Formats: sequence, C-alpha cells, structure tokens
Amino acid sequence: MAKSNPLYRERWGYGFDLTTDHLSTEEISKLRAQYDSLGSEVLGILQKIVANKDPAANGAPKADLYSVLRDNYQDNEVLSKFWDELHVTPEWVDWAQIERGQKFFGRYALGNATAFALQGFVRENSASPGIAEVFARTGGFAVRNLLSRVIETFTWVVHVTTSLESIQPGGEGHTSTIRVRLLHASVRQRITRLVESRPQYFDIKKHGSPVNDLDSMHAIALFCCMPMWDSLPKMGVYPTKQEITDFIALFRYISYLTGTPTSYWTTPKKAKAVMETMFLHELDPTNTSKILAYNFITWLSNAPPVYLSRDFLEAGCRWMNGHEMSDALGMGRPNLIYYLVFQGHNVVVFTLAYLQRFIPAFDRFMININRKLLYAAVTDHRHLVGGAGLFDFKFVPQLDRKFGKDSGEIDAQGHSRWWRPVEAVFLMALMIAGLVGCIMVAFVFKFALKLHIKE
Ligand code: HEM
Repeated sequence: MAKSNPLYRERWGYGFDLTTDHLSTEEISKLRAQYDSLGSEVLGILQKIVANKDPAANGAPKADLYSVLRDNYQDNEVLSKFWDELHVTPEWVDWAQIERGQKFFGRYALGNATAFALQGFVRENSASPGIAEVFARTGGFAVRNLLSRVIETFTWVVHVTTSLESIQPGGEGHTSTIRVRLLHASVRQRITRLVESRPQYFDIKKHGSPVNDLDSMHAIALFCCMPMWDSLPKMGVYPTKQEITDFIALFRYISYLTGTPTSYWTTPKKAKAVMETMFLHELDPTNTSKILAYNFITWLSNAPPVYLSRDFLEAGCRWMNGHEMSDALGMGRPNLIYYLVFQGHNVVVFTLAYLQRFIPAFDRFMININRKLLYAAVTDHRHLVGGAGLFDFKFVPQLDRKFGKDSGEIDAQGHSRWWRPVEAVFLMALMIAGLVGCIMVAFVFKFALKLHIKE
C-alpha cells in the first residue's frame, strides 16, 4: 500500500488500495435499491393474522411477531418458506468456527464496547446519511431514548455471542435476530407508508428504501469488520487471521438470518473491501449526523456507573475517528490531558489482550467472566427495554416528528459528576506503562554500557 500507487485511496484518515473486491458505484446503487423483500412480505402476512385474531389491534406493532410466526408458519406457504430458511442450516455454516467467532466479543470486551460506542454509534450510524435519516425518524438517538436503544442493541450482541446454542435455531440469539429482522421490516413499512402520503418525508430516491441491502451490509461491516481493521488496531490490538476469519463467519450467518446479502462475507479479503467501500462512498456527515453524534455523547457523558466526562469521550472519538471526521461531526476539542487518559484506556485494552494471547487459561477466564457479566447486565436491564428482549417498535415514525438536538444530559442519580474513577484508573495505567517503559530503557542502557566497558 503506497500513496504513489494509482489505486491508493484515502478517506477519513484510512488508506487502502482499491481491488476488484471493492464495490463499484453500479453495484452500490443496485444494493441500495434492494431490500429484504421476503421479510417485508412476511411482516404483512403476520400483521393480517394479528388483525384477524384481534380486529381492535389492527396489526399493532406491539404484538410479538416472532410468536405469531412460530404459531402460524405451518398454515401459510410464504411463512413456511421463511421459517424453513431460518431453521435449515446452510451448508457453508461450520458450527465449530461460529463458536470460535463468538468468543471474539467476550475476549476483547472492553475494546469491542469502545469500538461499538465511539465508532459504531458515533461514526457509522451518525455519519451515513441513509442510516442517520432513518434513526432521526425513529427517535432512537434522542437523549431520552438512547438508554433503551443501546441496551437493546447490546442485548442482541450478547445473545448472539454468549454460546453456540444461543445462535443455533431455536436459541435466544437466533430468535432475537429473527425479531430484529421483523422489526426492520416494520421500520421500512412505516416510513414507506408515510412517504406515500408525503414524498418529502424521506428521500427514497436518494437513500433507497429504509434498511436497504447496502445499509444492512454497512451495519454488518460495523459489527464485524471495523473491530478487526480499524478500531482494535487503533487501541494497539491486532486480531489474528484465525480470529478475523471466525468472527466474519459468525456475521455471515447473521447476515443470512437478517436477510442481508451473504456473498460479501465469504472471505476476510472481501469483507474488508466492503468496509473500505463504505468508508469511501457511504460516510458523508450531514447536519442530521451532527445532531445524532451530539445527542449520543450528551447521553453517555456523566452516565452512571462509569461517569465518563464529555472531554474524555470527545478525545476518544477524535482518536478513534480522526480529526477530519470529528470536526465534520461537530465534536469539541478537549485538552491534551484527556487524550492521555484515553491512551491509558488503550494501555488497559492492549495489556489485557496480549496477556490473554500468551496465557490461554487467563483468556478462558476473561471470556467466561465477560460473558457472565455482560449477560447479567443486559438481563438486569430488561425492565428498561420493555420486556425480555422482544425488540418491539418503540418510536413509531410520525409525519410531524423528526428528533432534533437534545440539551438534557442523563440523570446521574445523585452521584457526583466530578469524581471520575474510571478515568483515574486509565491515567494510572498510562503512568505505570510509562514507568515500566522508562525502567526497561534504563535497563537496556545499563546493559549496553556494561558491554561497552568490558570491550
Ligand atoms: C443488518 C444489520 C443490522 C443489525 C444486526 C441490526 C440490529 C438491530 C437491533 C439489535 C435492533 C434492536 C435494538 C433497538 O431497538 O435499537 C435494531 C433496531 C433498529 N434498527 Fe437495526 N440493525 C441492522 C441494520 C439496520 C439498518 C441498516 C438500519 C437503518 C437504515 C437499522 C435501523 C434500525 C431501527 C430504526 C431500529 C429501531 C426500531 C425501534 O426500536 O423503534 N438497522 N437493529
């Protein structure tokens, strides 16, 4: 990869060489024009079943559509086809590989969580115009709604990575993913119907249908490619070839379950090219992006139990996404000290990752403990997401409602906003790393001096 190569491209501080695996503009347009039509057809049938059973409900989106599907698929040809597709394992699925891929999330839990928040939510969801416009209409980026949105998404990630049984047909992660697919079909249906009565409500010509194939691939790349080639390397961690191949295989299966094209995830090389294509063509921050990014950081600042400061979060965003993107998203410019604190965070992520790589027993311990903690955390918060991970449609789009910039911060529930224990730990980690570095340099220097005197 050399800048002098005519195929070299750089976007938002990330450089790469174009290959035949990168998507052409024609392919991008084609994918933007397509969506999960089977999922949409199934949604329509399920809504009719609900309406026939309870005419007062009139296909209300609050019904648990997964249960309706499970109880009725045998009586309808389209539902049977859908159900069979989801429950017959494709021949390319290797369960041992999927199980290895699932461990990746728990193994690098801290790094993955940072990547998910500071790159996934701030950059990919906010700065991709089509995705951002959908989120702005469904209210998930209004400060008051962010807690449930983030917990629900996190719950889903935990479900699909917690154990092999969970992602296999009938498991918790498997059913959660089917619910998410039906939820996306509801989002698409609702926005498309509003466009029928007021075309300017959502620009389908420009952005394609809501949750189209291109946007869904972008979301898959966010989950499985960015940690590999962008987020974790920025924290000093380089996943192994095996980890990359296995995690992408897991998300190929998730693409299959969510009705997203699967042919782009057959090899790490192809998957990486999808991510880079998104950088090149799909990240283009708008005013809506600024609002979403601002609301997300506002929500996360001072939130219990970690009480991270806005300055720390903005320094983290700048480190993870670069100054060009952060300026385009309207991020503040914090003092140098906050960049150092974020480097302390990176020291913790890096140290844990490499200790785990060299001590397999410690790796197993960390994966188990992180899985248990994360599972308990999302289970404890079920009441906040309105049920046991049913992923219902919470903020049904309305013609007169598009969420804007929020000023409110999350209630710190009586805890001090000035005591930042987590940031103090990160700073301490950086100081210890600095001290260890100085001792090692002094040791090497002393050794070299001794050799020199002997000679
Ligand atoms: C295929 C990859 C995707 C995955 C794995 C995924 C995952 C999820 C999950 C777990 C939820 C439930 C949590 C929540 O309510 O926030 C969700 C909801 C949602 N997703 Fe996605 N998503 C994907 C693609 C997309 C895309 C491309 C868009 C927009 C263009 C989108 C828009 C939404 C919206 C608007 C909701 C929330 C609806 C509501 O709760 O009111 N998703 N998604």
